[in-house]
Amino acid sequence: MTRKVTKAIFPVAGLGTRFLPATKSIPKEIMTLVDRPLIQYAIDEARAAGIEEFIFVTSRGKGALEDYFDHAHELESSLKKSGKTELLDILRSTNMDSGAIAYVRQHKALGLGHAVWCARRLVGDEPFAVILTDDVIMGEPPCLQQMIEAYQETGGSMVATMEVPADKTKAYGVLDVAEDMGAIVRAQGMVEKPKENPPSNLAVIGRYILAPTVLNNLNKLKQGSGGEIQLTDAIADEIAEGRDVFGLRFRGQRFDCGSKAGFLQATVAFGLARDDLKGEFADYLSDVLAMRKAAE
Ligand code: UTP
Repeated sequence: MTRKVTKAIFPVAGLGTRFLPATKSIPKEIMTLVDRPLIQYAIDEARAAGIEEFIFVTSRGKGALEDYFDHAHELESSLKKSGKTELLDILRSTNMDSGAIAYVRQHKALGLGHAVWCARRLVGDEPFAVILTDDVIMGEPPCLQQMIEAYQETGGSMVATMEVPADKTKAYGVLDVAEDMGAIVRAQGMVEKPKENPPSNLAVIGRYILAPTVLNNLNKLKQGSGGEIQLTDAIADEIAEGRDVFGLRFRGQRFDCGSKAGFLQATVAFGLARDDLKGEFADYLSDVLAMRKAAE
């Protein structure tokens, strides 16, 4: 029997330099995809997967993120008074229960592994999820829910994985596969950003279900690729110590919203998926493409 996963860590302490100057004054996680900040997509996905406790690893300058989760009483009563019930429902759907959110500070951006380690006391001795808000995934059921369902069968630790072209593996953590069971693979190793000879073309993307022993591995605070304390290394240590780590080829499309091109692609995909926008937006996009073609 696997233990229920009720806690998720959201590491949001990175500097977000790829989005300067926007991230000079706003956290990357507040940037808006259609009409919702990136963090809301991550929260909704976590809730759908049964997560009840939300742990944010923040840093200096992330105040707007904390404010976002406060209840907006004045706004709520004004919408109520004016009978804007639809907007009121949208607003209320972003409310979080008192005590469901905790914030812990990462004082220096020493890497993703270090950010997760900063939350160790709030996680304790139970399995937990990690969600990177940069990776926005369009999928049904949502990616973390697919992972929880698979994890209930496998136990151990589990990462979300997807196939990438061979020349792109150097940008990711990459799985070394021991056994390929179709949707699920069992890993015999994991390498962060391999410069050459990637062990496979299965890249790890920003969703994890981790055994609490990963936190012990992070205690070593070992510097890895790029001089950062890497989560990948702590997961690879799990395998080296004989514990199971699996990858799930999730069903869905992942957008790298930590990069400008990825964010733009996500904007198009999520815009086209919205009933209230898709007609006008699709017409606009086809006009733009037709004009581009005519100009060639
Ligand atoms: P990124 O590698 O995208 O780094 O981190 P970044 O600082 O956010 O953005 P760039 O590269 O400067 O544009 C991946 C995730 O890990 C978190 C980030 O907030 C992001 O969600 N992270 C990274 C931390 O919380 N702490 C760190 O020390 C590093």
